This record gives sequence, C-alpha cells and structure tokens, in this order.
Amino acid sequence: MIKKTVIIDTDPGIDDAMAIALALFSQEIDVPLITTVAGNVGLENVTTNTLRLLSFFKKHVKVAKGASQPLLRVSEDASQFHGETGLAGFSYDKQATECLIDTHAVNAMYQELMKRQKTTVLAIGPLTNIALLLRMYPDSVHYIDEIVIMGGAINRGNYGVYTEFNSGFDPEATKIVYSAPVKKVMIGLEIGNQAIMEKEVLERLGNINGVGKMLSALFKHYQGEYFDKGVEVYDSTAIGYILHPEWYTCLEASVDVELCGTYTSGATLVDFTQKSQYIKVCTTIDAPKFIEWIIDSVAYMSHV
Ligand code: RIB
Ligand code: CA
Repeated sequence: MIKKTVIIDTDPGIDDAMAIALALFSQEIDVPLITTVAGNVGLENVTTNTLRLLSFFKKHVKVAKGASQPLLRVSEDASQFHGETGLAGFSYDKQATECLIDTHAVNAMYQELMKRQKTTVLAIGPLTNIALLLRMYPDSVHYIDEIVIMGGAINRGNYGVYTEFNSGFDPEATKIVYSAPVKKVMIGLEIGNQAIMEKEVLERLGNINGVGKMLSALFKHYQGEYFDKGVEVYDSTAIGYILHPEWYTCLEASVDVELCGTYTSGATLVDFTQKSQYIKVCTTIDAPKFIEWIIDSVAYMSHV
C-alpha cells in the first residue's frame, strides 16, 4: 500500500495533541514535516508543545516555526481553554529539540512539496502559514493533493457568534486559502460537535496506556468543567477524514469569508447552492465509528 504524505500545520493546543498522535502513529500516512503557527497560544509555546509531543511519542519529525501573528489583525488566543502553555493538564519532562529546523515553516513546506507529486496538507490551526505559502509560492498548488482544514462553521461559531476560532484568528488568511485554486475540504465545528467524546469514553481513554492517560489528562483541563459533559475533538475529525473519508458526508459548496463585520469577521459563509470545483464542506460524520477508531488507535500507541 502506498502511504499518503501529509504535512501538518498546527497550533498545539490540546485537541491538536490527539490529532498529531493519530497521524504519527498511523501506518497509512507518512508525515515528513510539522509546521507551527500562532493560534491557541503564542508561536514559541505551540512550537515547544510540538517538540514536547514528539519526545513523548518517541517520534522524530522535522518541525519548522511559522507565523507568530495573523496577517493583518491582532487576535486573542485560546489560552483560556488550553492553558497558558497550551497543553495544560500534563507535565512533559522533555522536548525533541533536535527536530527543530532553522528554515521558516513556509519555506520548509514548499521545499517538502517540491519533493513529491502530491502531498496532503492537514491544517488544524489558523491558516496564516498556508496563506503565506500560497502567496509566496503560487505554483505550490500543483503539488498539493488537497488541504484538509479543521476550521470554519456552517452555522454558529465558537470564537464569535458565527465565527470559528481558526478562521476568526486570521480572517484574511482564511479568505486567501478559500480563494486559491487548490482542492480544500472544510471540516467545520459541526463535525466535532457530532462526535463529542463523552466522559466514559474519556475515562476509557485514560485507562488504555501512557498516551491515553496523557490525552485524558489534557482533556480534563480542556474547557475546564466540560469533561463531565464530554469534549469536542475538533482537530482529530480532520485527520479522521484523511484516513477514513467514508465516514463523512461532504458537499461541494462555495465558501466566502467575512472580513468587514464588527462581530462576524472570519465567519465562513458556506453556500451549497453555489458549487466550487475546489471546495467540499463536510456535513456529517459517523460518530460511533470515529470514536471507536480513536480508542483503537490509541491502544496501538502502546510502546510509549
Ligand atoms: O475551533 C477549534 C479549533 O481552534 C481547533 O483547531 C482548536 O485547536 C483551536 O485551534
Ligand atoms: Ca488547533
């Protein structure tokens, strides 16, 4: 079986941590590069968190630092949910500093894309790096199979009334990416909201092995008292699409991005009556299969 090549752009971030684990331990994909972007917390912290996770998972993947702020705006981070460090709830004693390369994330992504015919880009943070890539290297679209984006919302948001965090943190970058002539799949809030990890699942997770215990400890912090109500694992729904697209319903649509609204900047305006050859928007997920897949996948992360 030919493995799919996936570059991960991320802002860990508690839910990013599980998505990164699912990607790195999968036998079906190869991850040659992880790039970091400011979002949940600042660039230094998301980069340190990525290196901490690589050390914890005993994985060696190149890491390149990217944008420290949105293209145009000053946005509020999500440290209220992820903690000041971005991975509150668990103490990591080491970080894989040897994985950090000097190359800027955008240049590192382009160099990696040039090595292959087709690469999937998994975007689970604000789209600042991806927008810079598309502007600095327009020909990169010829080497990207698709950009799988955790971001946006068909209906209500979690950062603003109609704005999801990743799209609202950098609205201009989101607009650039959704306007680009490259295939994109939008995995919005609705998908994570359909696949909530309930408390008993989180407790099962915590009893599997070291990775499950770490992830469960993070989720106990994520959004505070929400553990009892279950947590949305938004970023994992995006890696879930890459590995099991058969569990998702996706429709062609146009997606525009609000840039001028006082209260709606970054809102993704999804129009299913206007199809686009470049955009699919996911509307449903097979939540039971997805949740069981997470538990089974973590169970195979046993050597950690
Ligand atoms: O809205 C959810 C997204 O914002 C996730 O990527 C989460 O990590 C935060 O970055
Ligand atoms: Ca994220």
